[in-house]
Order: sequence, then structure tokens, then C-alpha cells
Amino acid sequence: MRVAVIGTGYVGLVSGACFSEFGVDVVCVDKDGTKIAALERGEMPIYEPGLKDLVGENVKAGRLSFTTDTRAAVSGADAVFIAVGTPSRRGDGHADLTYVFDAAREIAQYVNGYTVVVTKSTVPVGTGTEVERVLHQVRPDAKIDVVSNPEFLREGSAIQDFMRPDRVVIGTGSEPARAVMRQLYRPLYLIETPILFTTRETAELIKYAANAFLATKITFINEIADLCEAVGADVQDVARGIGLDGRIGRKFLHAGPGFGGSCFPKDSLALVRTAQEAKQPLRIVETVVEVNNRRKQGMAERVIRACGGSVEGKAIAVLGVTFKPNTDDMRDAPSLDILPALQAAGATVRAYDPEGMKEAARLLKDVTWCDDAYGAMKDADALVIITEWNEFRALDLRRVRSLLKTPVMVDLRNIYSPEDVSAAGFHYVSIGRPRPARNRKQ
Ligand code: UGA
Repeated sequence: MRVAVIGTGYVGLVSGACFSEFGVDVVCVDKDGTKIAALERGEMPIYEPGLKDLVGENVKAGRLSFTTDTRAAVSGADAVFIAVGTPSRRGDGHADLTYVFDAAREIAQYVNGYTVVVTKSTVPVGTGTEVERVLHQVRPDAKIDVVSNPEFLREGSAIQDFMRPDRVVIGTGSEPARAVMRQLYRPLYLIETPILFTTRETAELIKYAANAFLATKITFINEIADLCEAVGADVQDVARGIGLDGRIGRKFLHAGPGFGGSCFPKDSLALVRTAQEAKQPLRIVETVVEVNNRRKQGMAERVIRACGGSVEGKAIAVLGVTFKPNTDDMRDAPSLDILPALQAAGATVRAYDPEGMKEAARLLKDVTWCDDAYGAMKDADALVIITEWNEFRALDLRRVRSLLKTPVMVDLRNIYSPEDVSAAGFHYVSIGRPRPARNRKQ
């Protein structure tokens, strides 16, 4: 089996590396020559646990290579994966498919013999048909089938998600294409992964419906957290109490500052637009988008309240700026709303993130970037935890207290126990949990 993967972003690079680990010959293509040169030197464009080693081993074994030459990669490939970006189009929130169609046009020029073209990028319902049209327009003679094979991997655990997925979804009406896809995913058959064959449109919609459902689940628990605060309940117990019901499930019920990242915000919005155009509006998803945006914007207010109603002239220590741990990805991260709002309210910000500071420094202005967590706390008036990196979970609270000017801790991920932090002498604010009695008196 020979596979070409167009696009070396998250999905393309992880999928390419994992297919090569399955024993397939994979060539990853990108237009960006510097990126390809860096990959050839073994440097990864993104931080993803395990990726560098996986790429290194498969390059060494001769199963994985990188190129800017689409022709060389595509001609002779049994399957060509389109894994280019589909950013939100400016202004209307639709997925911008320019890169997808550009890739299709280029692929069409070079295919040679029967080829399965697979869309792995998240694309709105009906895009597969459009891709097919473009391919046949450029090469009416070519024997091509277009398949939708959406990806469900999460940043930070992408390799594990690819190698041991809950399911694989393959959308196509063509039997020869099904056979190629079955062969590619054979190692997963052997571990009894459910492989779901559907129509192309269904596969495209499954991807959006899955992300919108998960985004809804998070938003639901976030609103329940606010209600918990109002009525004196504990959101973590509520999440456990409902999550143990197998029909609800325990995952994705962690209340926090609102979801971010490259997928949930963009995909929920794109689904809303698709539904509006189909005249079947998804009112729940529309509300999720709106509530989540408002939540991220409102988090700074929570910090300001914890600081006694004003942060004017105060220094705020921030731990974690990426949208979640184990990634350097800053896209739609809650920190992008929270930090500027604190600065606008007169605060200065000292921040630390294990992997995200380089990217964050481009997006967030006037922040003092520190070498480690404790460095950020020195002489700060409050500590705010925005992203739950493991290294923030067991801070030496005595040391934290001695470094901070005032012992205020705002934990937007509920990684500490209110009792422990209050007992250590902090004014502790978290999400959707009652404050211990001694904390309330302060
Ligand atoms: C998400 C989906 O989980 C993947 O299945 C999907 O393949 C991917 O989008 C995609 O479409 O490419 P990802 O964005 O990497 O993956 O990260 P998640 O772990 O899903 O987290 C997304 C956001 O939700 C983060 O900001 C996270 O902090 C937040 N979150 C997640 C919560 O606030 N609470 C939770 O319980 C879970």
C-alpha cells in the first residue's frame, strides 16, 4: 500500500506517521519547503507527545518520507489523503475550503491508475461531492473515488487516539474504495475496532455532530457549574452523579473556563451555518456557541472579583495559556480572552506555560513570560490557573504563599481541593464548588 498525505498539520502529520507505523508506505506533502526541511531534520512543527519518536522511527525504517513534490507523492499512490486546513472563513463562520479544492485540483493532475482520494480534513456535508466534481473536471479520464474518513483524534493524545480509536468512520458508496480503506485500517480490524461504513454525507455529518455534541456536553456542565455556585452545590459531585449513568457517561463533564482549540469553536460554528442554510437551524448548537463565547469573556471578571473587585495596578500570575495541556496550540484558547481583559482592567500579567509561550507571545502583548511556574508568582497579587498541565497539579503551596504578595488563587480547572488550598491560607476561587467555611469568612 502506498499513501500520500497532503498537508502536514496536526491531522496530516499524525495520520501519516500512524499509517506508516501500520506498515504502509507514506509520503507527506506540504507546500511549505521550510516545514518539510525541518521535518526531514526530525524537527516537529507542533508539540505532540510521542510524535517525534514515531516519525523518527518510521523515517529510519524507510516507510515515511516528506516532500514538497505533489506529483512524486501522488502518482503511484493507492490512496491520497487531503488533510489541509479548513479555517473559519472570516465574517460568516463557514469552513473555508480553498485549500481543500486547491489540493483536489493538484491531486487530479498527477493521479495515475485507480486512486482513492480521502478527505480527512473536517469538511461540511456535501464537500466530498464537490471534491469529486473538481477532480473529474481536471481529469475526466481518471479512475478516482472520493471517500470521507473523518478524524476524531484529540491534541495531546493524538497518537493513542489514532492507534486505538473508539471507531473508524468511512463514507463511500464504492466497493473498490471500501476495499482500499479496509486494507489500510487492517491493523485496527485485528484489535476489533468498530469500522462504520456509511454514505459520504453521513460520514461528513458524523464528524460535526460528534464535536457539537461534546461541545454541548461541556457547555451544559459549565452552566450547571454556575448554578452550583448560586445554590451551594458542587459541580464535580454533580458530574460524577450524572456521569455514572451509562446513558450520560463521565467524560467531557469537566467544568472550566469554556472550550477552545482548533476544532470545537470552529466546527460548532460551521455546523450552525450549514444547518441555517439547510433551513433546519440547530438551536442548541447556536446557543452553545454563544454561551461558550460569553463564558470565556466572563472569566476575567471572576479573577477581578477574587481580587476584591479591582486589578488596577495589580500583578497577576498566570499558569497555562494553551487551550488544553500537552499541546502548544493557542487557537481559541480562553487565555486569549482572559489576559487582555485583565490588562484592560489595569493589571500586569506574568505568565508561564510549559510549551505554549512561543506561540502565545505572538498573540498576547505586554505579558512577562517566565521560566517556570514559581517565577511567574513572585510578588504577584493573585495566581490564576487557566490550563491544567500536570506540573501545576502539585505545587508547593507553602512556597506559592511565600512568593505571592496576597494569597489569592483562582483555579479555573478545579485541579486543587478547596479544603487543602484554604487550609494553606489562600482565598481560593474555583469553578462550581462551594468555598470551605473559613474561606467564606474572608
Ligand atoms: C476535539 C475532539 O475531542 C476530538 O475528538 C476531535 O477529533 C478534535 O476536536 C477535532 O475535531 O480535530 P481537541 O480539540 O484536541 O479534540 O481537544 P479536547 O480534548 O476535545 O478539548 C477541547 C476543549 O474542550 C479544550 O479547551 C478543553 O479544555 C475543553 N474541555 C474538554 C473542557 O472544558 N471540559 C471537558 O470535560 C473536556
